[in-house]
Amino acid sequence: MPDSLARVSGQDPVDFPRTASYEADPEQVHRVLLLYSGGLDTSVLLKWIQDRYGAEVVCLTVNLGQPGEDYAVIEAKALALGARECHIVDARQEFAEQYLSPAIRANALYGGGYPLFTALGRPLIAKLAVEHARASGCDTIAHGCTGKGNDQVRIEATIATLAPELKVIAPVRSWQMGREEEVAYAREHGIPVKGGTEAAPYSIDDNLWGRSSEGRWIEDLEHAPEDDVFALVTRPELAPDEAEHVEVSFEGGMPVALNGERLGLVELIEGTAEIAARHGVGIIDHIEDRIVGLKVRDIYEAPAAAVLLPAHQELERLVCTIHQNQFKPELDRQWAFLVYAGLWWEPLRGDLDAYMERVNERVTGTIGMKLYKGHARVVTRSSPNAVYDASLASFAESGGLFSQTASPGFIELWSLQSRMAWRLRNS
Ligand code: ARG
Repeated sequence: MPDSLARVSGQDPVDFPRTASYEADPEQVHRVLLLYSGGLDTSVLLKWIQDRYGAEVVCLTVNLGQPGEDYAVIEAKALALGARECHIVDARQEFAEQYLSPAIRANALYGGGYPLFTALGRPLIAKLAVEHARASGCDTIAHGCTGKGNDQVRIEATIATLAPELKVIAPVRSWQMGREEEVAYAREHGIPVKGGTEAAPYSIDDNLWGRSSEGRWIEDLEHAPEDDVFALVTRPELAPDEAEHVEVSFEGGMPVALNGERLGLVELIEGTAEIAARHGVGIIDHIEDRIVGLKVRDIYEAPAAAVLLPAHQELERLVCTIHQNQFKPELDRQWAFLVYAGLWWEPLRGDLDAYMERVNERVTGTIGMKLYKGHARVVTRSSPNAVYDASLASFAESGGLFSQTASPGFIELWSLQSRMAWRLRNS
């Protein structure tokens, strides 16, 4: 056992009793596909799996549009730490088209605020892990999630669903190394630790759709956000004094143009994020009910989602009837919960998608939004499918399709049961 681990008490992180069918016995582990980010946890993991299991490791790093990542550096690091192969996959297109598109159609927000970027990314990352594990002859998939989060649920549920023949190891869950032990282990094994080792950094996860920060003062609910947590969105107090108007055009529920310029979904999301971030739009300070029972606080930065989701929702409201508008938010909420909870492959999600797609066939048009110091507000709408007639809605006009003289009769019948019930209770 490495020195740094010998100092840590607790169960043996390799030889412990397994509870789930997909967890690997040590003797089943020969060649491991490791989901590798290049950070401290997964770099320690990369060495540790070779040491403790005597197994070969193949690394997989997935590009979901996380900004500022140097994949050549990650690949070189993986190979230097003994990986047999390192696969770098650019999955931005697939992420946008197969994961973010349905999320937009479902106006997907969990807990009223979280646009699910991590929750949407994990099933794709795990699906790619399955594909690459199979293609490179691995028997086991390893990931660096802890035992306290949602990500372990999303990744393992995906692997167990798509590849019952593959096993999973999640050493971070059982090795009981804290950050100090990990840094010590890294030092012993020649793993570069970037950015000093004094203050533990925020725990970050990010992709095209947003960025989350956890840990440090964020865990103190009475602590207001410190400025240094924001890496994507300009703090509203530093945003320009001039408001900016942006127009997003949709076809069939999908954003297709930004300020009149047709763009692919990845570029459109990136372009929207840039404008919104400049205006301080997309900061979410969120209390969240994790699926594993914990209540936690996250600081999110999701500038593109903070523009595209309200724009989509506004257009949907315009083209849908009162009955559709009453019904769909219930399904939207259910969709977001399933995805948050790691059940991307659950058939109910597909059933809900069928409804979302059907409704979104008519969601075509353009929404204008005003961005100003942290706020994004819808200010203009147009759609060929709007269930809206300005002459009917106008106060100035009467007659035509809408008969105001019919209203009293409507009110009499519409309120009938409520009036009867009132009388019974108050006589
Ligand atoms: N709370 C969010 C979620 O459950 C973000 C999680 C971020 N993950 C991470 N490993 N830092 O989806």
